[in-house]
Amino acid sequence: MPAMTATAPGKVILFGEHAVVYGRPAIAAPVNQVQARAVIQAEPRAVAGSVHVQAPDIHLDVMLADLPGDHPISLTVRSVLVEYGLTRSPACTIRVTSTIPIASGLGSGAAVAVALLRAFSAFLGQPLPNERISALAFEVEKIHHGTPSGIDNTVITYAMPVYFVHGPARNTIELISVSVPITLVIGDTGVPSPTAQAVGDLRHAWQSDPKRYEPLFDRMGWITQMARQAIVDGRPELLGDLMNQNQDILSQVGVSSPELDRLVSAARAGGASGAKLSGGGKGGNMIALALPAVATQVARALKEAGAVRTIITTIK
Ligand code: PMV
Repeated sequence: MPAMTATAPGKVILFGEHAVVYGRPAIAAPVNQVQARAVIQAEPRAVAGSVHVQAPDIHLDVMLADLPGDHPISLTVRSVLVEYGLTRSPACTIRVTSTIPIASGLGSGAAVAVALLRAFSAFLGQPLPNERISALAFEVEKIHHGTPSGIDNTVITYAMPVYFVHGPARNTIELISVSVPITLVIGDTGVPSPTAQAVGDLRHAWQSDPKRYEPLFDRMGWITQMARQAIVDGRPELLGDLMNQNQDILSQVGVSSPELDRLVSAARAGGASGAKLSGGGKGGNMIALALPAVATQVARALKEAGAVRTIITTIK
């Protein structure tokens, strides 16, 4: 049997991170320059049910049965078996690799889950539809995020820019068609920052003073709606100022950091028309809006200000 392979991209949040956890809209887009990959190889000579897991990026080389039940890879594989009413898997080796930096706001956890759900369900002969892939990846996201909004699994599953609202009963998901391409420069602070921590800290602050945080979440929601309109109307030049406003509020709610602030300032000084953190914050990555002609210059400015790596990507 040939090996079954699936990939999933990284992602950035353009607008509305954190506020999205509280029911306000957010916009996210895939980043195809980095990706997670899952390869499933049948092992016809091994006994049924024996699943060998290799994830060299996290130094994992074990049998599935020896992984804790709440390990993301274990949870992902088992969720597919449960989906199809299977009690054990055909013998196989699962190899998971990723070029998406871990705990840095680029969606590595969701991308690994999506790639593995796709590859493993296809290996079983029944590829899952996107809706189920996204729903199962959301369950895995709870390990990484605590109380995720669902935006990461959604944008990574559909691999298209999305306008997303997390609702109490159901989410609103609008796939956005981008009429004028948007060039972004992504800068990595190199400071790992688990999303669950940033989300949890903000939740505590909000619980103790909702009157202070609710209007700030509202403002982020309005900024996101204006950004959606600008993207749909093909007016990316309006996005820079909106990004700066969004960053200002993210700082006020306490999820920026000195390293992020330094990269944001450097990007603006280097020619970007706007810049903000992206994702959970307190470290991880930031994004800058740049005309294609100045993107390399902005990337250079970010490197000089301490970015451990930069990616130039086009949202379309
Ligand atoms: O840090 P990331 O890329 O996983 O993004 C988290 C986005 C948040 O809005 C902070 C949390 C969420 O679940 O939406």
